Amino acid sequence: MTDIQNSRPFVLMMSEITVDGKLTLFRGASSKILMKYMSHESEILLHTTRAEVDAIMVGSRTIAIDNSFLTVRLVKGKSPLRVIPNSRADISPDANVLSGGVPTLIAVSEKAPVENIRFLEARGAIVRTYGKDKVDLPLLLHSLYEDFGVKRMMIEGGPTLNRQMIKARLIDEIRLVHLPFIVGGDDTPSLVGGDRIESEDEMVRLELKEHYLCGSNLITEYKVL
Ligand SMILES: NC(=O)c1ccc[n+]([C@@H]2O[C@H](COP(=O)([O-])OP(=O)(O)OC[C@H]3O[C@@H](n4cnc5c(N)ncnc54)[C@H](OP(=O)(O)O)[C@@H]3O)[C@@H](O)[C@H]2O)c1
Repeated sequence: MTDIQNSRPFVLMMSEITVDGKLTLFRGASSKILMKYMSHESEILLHTTRAEVDAIMVGSRTIAIDNSFLTVRLVKGKSPLRVIPNSRADISPDANVLSGGVPTLIAVSEKAPVENIRFLEARGAIVRTYGKDKVDLPLLLHSLYEDFGVKRMMIEGGPTLNRQMIKARLIDEIRLVHLPFIVGGDDTPSLVGGDRIESEDEMVRLELKEHYLCGSNLITEYKVL
């Protein structure tokens, strides 16, 4: 039997984050508002990182809210395969991720209506089914490795997807761009969302590998233990 945990891409989680650990101004707000305040050097780091990976993954709600392109624009280099877990294949046909001349894989579940799948395929997306209800992330990563040749991948959020990726132990490293702001808000999305943990045994332990400045932004890099 194939060990699907071991035949998967190396995964880097990268995020822009406020001092209070938030990813955006308030629930439902686009993170592009915060990203405007990144230093130019950090933007270059983000695009260089995208150019170094074979695939980039974000959740379907980030696509709905941020309407991201997920392409390499600020540096020379090839844009990676864009991967969107979207159980019901219901992202907007106007989503920027379906344009730009870069391949996009929409990972759906068995719950996705056939007409939605056909519609996305007609927009040029590659659509594949992984799992019954929500997208089965370990299966998706195994397929990215085996079927799409993805050896390195980055994930750019949001917190719901980050949580499930961390929970399934599919993240190897974390790179954070710290933005010097506090936004507050009990329900403002933070780096990792989802259910709370019940005890310290469930904390995900990290080891700080690097810290440096990118223009005015502190960057920290962690290994997930
Ligand atoms: N600062 C940053 O770096 C940054 C980066 C990204 C996002 N953000 C912010 O984060 C917010 C959006 O985050 P979010 O937590 O609401 O949504 P999200 O994590 O972007 O997307 C979650 C959605 O992905 C789909 N999905 C499919 N299979 C899944 C699985 N196995 N596990 C988890 N998700 C699965 C689900 O919707 P389906 O029903 O489609 O399956 C789920 O609701 C936005 O405000 C955005 O601006 C910030």
